[in-house]
Amino acid sequence: MSPSFGSRYAGPAFDAVDIIRTKRDRGTLSADQIAWTIDAYTYGDIADEQMAALNMAILLNGMNRGEISLWTAAMIASGERMDFSGLRTPAGAPMRTTDKHSTGGVGDKITLPLAPLVAVFGVAVPQLSGRGLGHTGGTLDKLEAIPGWRANLSNAEMMRQLSEVGAVICAAGDGLAPADKKLYALRDVTGTVEAIPLIASSIMSKKIAEGTGALVLDVKVGSGAFMKDVGMARELAQTMVALGKDAGVNTVALLTDMSTPLGLTAGNAIEVEESVEVLAGGGPSDVVELTVRLAEEMLAAAGVHDANPAAALKDGRAMDVWRRMIAAQGGDPDAAMPVAREPEVIYAPADGVLTELDALSVGVAAWRLGAGRARKEDAVQAGAGVRLHAKPGDVVRAGEPLMTLLTDTPEKFDRAKAALAQAVTISAEGAPAMRDLILERIA
Ligand code: URA
Repeated sequence: MSPSFGSRYAGPAFDAVDIIRTKRDRGTLSADQIAWTIDAYTYGDIADEQMAALNMAILLNGMNRGEISLWTAAMIASGERMDFSGLRTPAGAPMRTTDKHSTGGVGDKITLPLAPLVAVFGVAVPQLSGRGLGHTGGTLDKLEAIPGWRANLSNAEMMRQLSEVGAVICAAGDGLAPADKKLYALRDVTGTVEAIPLIASSIMSKKIAEGTGALVLDVKVGSGAFMKDVGMARELAQTMVALGKDAGVNTVALLTDMSTPLGLTAGNAIEVEESVEVLAGGGPSDVVELTVRLAEEMLAAAGVHDANPAAALKDGRAMDVWRRMIAAQGGDPDAAMPVAREPEVIYAPADGVLTELDALSVGVAAWRLGAGRARKEDAVQAGAGVRLHAKPGDVVRAGEPLMTLLTDTPEKFDRAKAALAQAVTISAEGAPAMRDLILERIA
């Protein structure tokens, strides 16, 4: 791999206030204005309060496709670009690369079984992941529950692991789209995260800079997702697919339901355990369905159309790659996982059919129990989280366990239970029509 580093913008300079006024008045920014803005903010020549005002103007007034594309290109140019075109198997054969990005949800552990599953078919998966912030969990936090596993790899280690194992899940280095790191932290504290141009450029700048050949986006829709409604999710997906294709990355998106958690666990160690069940050929049907479908899409996007990922989960091939992938990063795939010191069971209040189990409420409860962090520097509890005993559509009886709350710090139970106060609906009337898990495909 030959990383290159961002170069400074060398065109004409502008006045930040003029740029803010242009967007405030619904104008269109030029290529030079956008390149200058991203460069000047990254290097401290635009103040946080000015960038916050500009972000708010973009949230309220939008950007056209051309502006979003230039904004994304400027963020990519702020840092390193990785290049996997020289990747070879140990026998010297060229390797294609494919990746998946999820916009984040509750119980979304899909990356864990998915990366080794795709690698079974000879396509390399370089998954540069992040830690969780807020109610959605982070892939690295989950994997760090495995004793010995380490998230930080050098570029050389990453390349070697991709060549020898075929899959790597590791922390994105500081050099990848540094403009986005600064911008995202500012958006987080200024109420400007939920702007489609800013989300699309943030995600795609990192994915394009990462250098993958093909990309599948899992755009979540529902209470536990950024996008609560299908129309917004569709627009975000279409914008990201267009950005990917323009950059030469074969990109497709699935819109998937996030109104209820994926699988039966939301936390760190317990999500790893559930992923291992899937890799052993079992596990919850929704996790299996989404893992297999995303694997098919990732392989097809990389040009492999005759693979059977469902069979590779059943016959242990994906598990073999998982074990090698974990061991290559210092983890012990056979080690016992950390267990929370204090469990508390929540029981069904009535007989009937569980018709609603709200994803956001479960995500917030898991976060408050210690599975997530409120600030970047907080530590997470490996064993904390929520284990579900029933999912929408299941018949429950009064007094049966509905879920178990897990934490090392029992003083957290009250706030977790408060988050769950409206999470569950049990109906005596019978089951409602079940929601589809995969809602749409956008290519
Ligand atoms: N994830 C990102 O990386 N960026 C956003 O803006 C939102 C989600």
